[in-house]
Amino acid sequence: IGEGEGEDKCSYIQIINGGKKFITCNIKGYLASRIAFFLLNIRISSHNIIFTRHGESEYNVEDRIGGDSSLSNHGKQYATILSQYLSNEFDQTYINLWSSDMKRTRETVKTYLDSNDENHLKYINYTEHKELSEIHVGICEGMTYNEVKEQYPQEYQARSIDKLRYRYPQGESYLDMIKRLEPIIFELERTDKPVVLVAHRAVLRCLISYFLDLPAEEIPYLDIPLHTVLKLTPASYYNKLEKIKLM
Ligand code: G3H
Repeated sequence: IGEGEGEDKCSYIQIINGGKKFITCNIKGYLASRIAFFLLNIRISSHNIIFTRHGESEYNVEDRIGGDSSLSNHGKQYATILSQYLSNEFDQTYINLWSSDMKRTRETVKTYLDSNDENHLKYINYTEHKELSEIHVGICEGMTYNEVKEQYPQEYQARSIDKLRYRYPQGESYLDMIKRLEPIIFELERTDKPVVLVAHRAVLRCLISYFLDLPAEEIPYLDIPLHTVLKLTPASYYNKLEKIKLM
């Protein structure tokens, strides 16, 4: 489409020189504007994204959901091994380090930050994001899955029938989370540096599914093990995901 062409015939979004120039023509309505906004934010540069869950938490040990517990001893060990891995991976490379604002992710990240001297810290841009919090489990806060099954059998059943859409009473569904993670996805698309993102199982399921283009119904079942780094490498038409078990 040449300059000024098609103006009275069609709607289009033209991206010139890999996003240096952006032309929209006859873009009207919610969906078309959202697409324009999305295209404005996607990247063509390729940077790795390292995803990982926090180290094992005290609640993980008891198989409890929700809460804001600290790392277990095993989890602290992972934080140390992860920080060695990250130091090898990103020696004198500027990176963005993101975590949720929950104790278990902050403690995991702190071990890495504390292992760097001032010379190395200048390469790490650390920010906490509220949007990266784990799924809010509402009335099931602090319970084990067995307790949920016993005390709220109908809720338990409803969730097993439609895990993607099921919303915990006073809590969230996976679909709610996908919405709240949208700004994070835009930031990940836009960033010009590698990102290390330390978050939670349900959060990583949503983010990684986006980058792997997985069907929505598969999101709540994606395997995101503890003590494992998930390394995403962007290619032209797909993203490659490596699972590196550190412990
Ligand atoms: O509730 C917290 C869990 O990490 C999310 O797992 O959706 O499989 O229950 P789930």
